[in-house]
This record gives sequence, C-alpha cells and structure tokens, in this order.
Amino acid sequence: MTSRWFDGKSVLVTGAASGIGAAAAQRFAAEGAAVCVADSNAGGIERVRSLIERAGGRAIAAAVDIGRSEDNLAMVAKTVAAFGRLDAVFLNAGILGGMAGFDTITPELFDKVIRTNLFGVFYGLKSVLPAIAPGGAVVVTASTAGLFGLAENPAYSASKHGIVGLVRSAAAAYAVKGVRVNAICPGGVATPMAGVPQSDALVDPSDLAMPAYGGTSSAQHVAELALFLASSRASAITGACHVIDVGWTSVLPTAAAPTART
Ligand code: NAI
Repeated sequence: MTSRWFDGKSVLVTGAASGIGAAAAQRFAAEGAAVCVADSNAGGIERVRSLIERAGGRAIAAAVDIGRSEDNLAMVAKTVAAFGRLDAVFLNAGILGGMAGFDTITPELFDKVIRTNLFGVFYGLKSVLPAIAPGGAVVVTASTAGLFGLAENPAYSASKHGIVGLVRSAAAAYAVKGVRVNAICPGGVATPMAGVPQSDALVDPSDLAMPAYGGTSSAQHVAELALFLASSRASAITGACHVIDVGWTSVLPTAAAPTART
C-alpha cells in the first residue's frame, strides 16, 4: 500500500472557507494531513472543518483576518498547539476588491486590497518562518494578474505583483531553514470570487479533466497544484511562480487599441 502524501503532517490553509482554499483543505486532509482551516468567514470554517471530520480526517478551525499581524501569529500558534508541529502552509486568502480602473479607483479601495492581499501574505510569511519544520513548504496564491497588468483592477494586480516579489525574496530566508516557498498564479478559476456559487464537491484527482484551452480551472485543479508544491515531490522547487491558466497567458492576445476616455 502506498502512503498518502501528507500522512503525519500538519498543514495550515488560509481562505479555507471557500473556493480554492476549501478544496485544498479537504484534499490535504484526504492525503493524511491534520489541517487548520483558517478564514475570516466563521460559518465557512466550521462547514469545512466538519466536512473534513465527516470524511474521517482531522481538522481545527481558526477565525482570522489575514490583514492583521496578530491574527497570523495566532493561527500559526493555534496550529502548532493543536497538532504539535507545522509542515506545510497554503497562504491563499485574498480579495478582488471592487472593479475600479485607474480613473475611478480611490486611495481607500487601493489601501483595502493591498492591506488584505499583500500585507496578508507579508504577515503570513513572517509568522510561519519561525514555526515551520525543516523539510516543510509554503505555497502562496498570487494570480496571472501578478504577472500582467489588469486595467480594470490595478489594486488587485499591484497586490498580486507584490506577492510574487515577496515570495521570490523570501526563498533564501526560508531555505536557511530547509523550507521551500513558491507562488501559484491561477488564471480564471470557478469560485465565488469569480461569481460561481461555492461547491464542496471534489473528484478523485485521477479523474480531473482538462478544461477548455484558455478557459476556467476548477478550485480543485488549483488545489492539486498547491498540494504538489507542498509535497516532497517538489523538493527542488523554490522561489518560483507557477502559472495554472489552461494556456491563457501562453500566447500574446491580439491587441485591441485602448479606447480613449474623455
Ligand atoms: P473565494 O472568494 O472563494 O475565497 C477567498 C477566501 O478568502 C474566502 O473564504 C474569504 O472569506 C477569505 N478571505 C478574504 N479576506 C480575508 C481576510 N482578510 N482574512 C481571512 N480570510 C479572508 O476566492 P478564490 O477564488 O478561492 O480565491 C482564493 C485565492 O485565489 C485568492 O487569493 C484570489 O485572489 C486567488 N485567485 C483567484 C482567481 C479566480 O479566478 N477565482 C484567479 C487568480 C487568483
């Protein structure tokens, strides 16, 4: 019998009440991990914790606002207190913010998106570093908007570019501890953030089908990449960004001239 990927491991997932994080929390648990389900959505973390337990897994829930340093420290401490160690972390929570282009975006909206997405990952990486076990791994959710601009949402794009820079810059400090850190850059993913109702249904990973070229991935498609990068199978991979967008950014789009606004 082959062992599961995360047997005996302790894993922390943020944004775990919904979408990519909820899929990842369930999949880490199905692969043997004890999971801390962290999110600001109190009802959602209880739902996912209970789903994991009903499937025979082990989980705790942590209510956190990732934009607060003390909440990040507390969720790490809670995970270590409950499971005795911390082996892998998926810093995945984030917000889209309002869709506001450069002409309409306000400093308040820009501040809100940066505070949640970029400070959230900064505080997460700072809190995890002293606690994670050698041989462990961190995966951070950026976006293809962290590699290319997004005219209709510059705050989100700037926050995700910042996350890519943080992950690349943190790799050396993490390597000193024997821990890897990688970013994932999804394109379109069918989750509540993209207006798709939440579904907790998962399939056997061997049954995952290829989406339409340039189309939308499922939350589980992205979760499986996070699991791979957090596992020992990815032991030589650190400080890198991994695009998962079914080829969307693989070719230059046919450029349309920007419309001038008066
Ligand atoms: P989602 O909206 O389904 O899940 C995001 C989760 O983050 C929610 O459960 C929410 O409560 C939580 N969250 C938001 N602010 C928080 C805070 N301050 N503290 C704690 N938790 C907070 O969205 P999805 O799609 O699962 O997003 C996960 C990550 O994937 C995000 O970082 C997002 O930017 C990124 N992403 C999503 C794409 C998509 O098309 N859905 C594309 C590229 C990246």
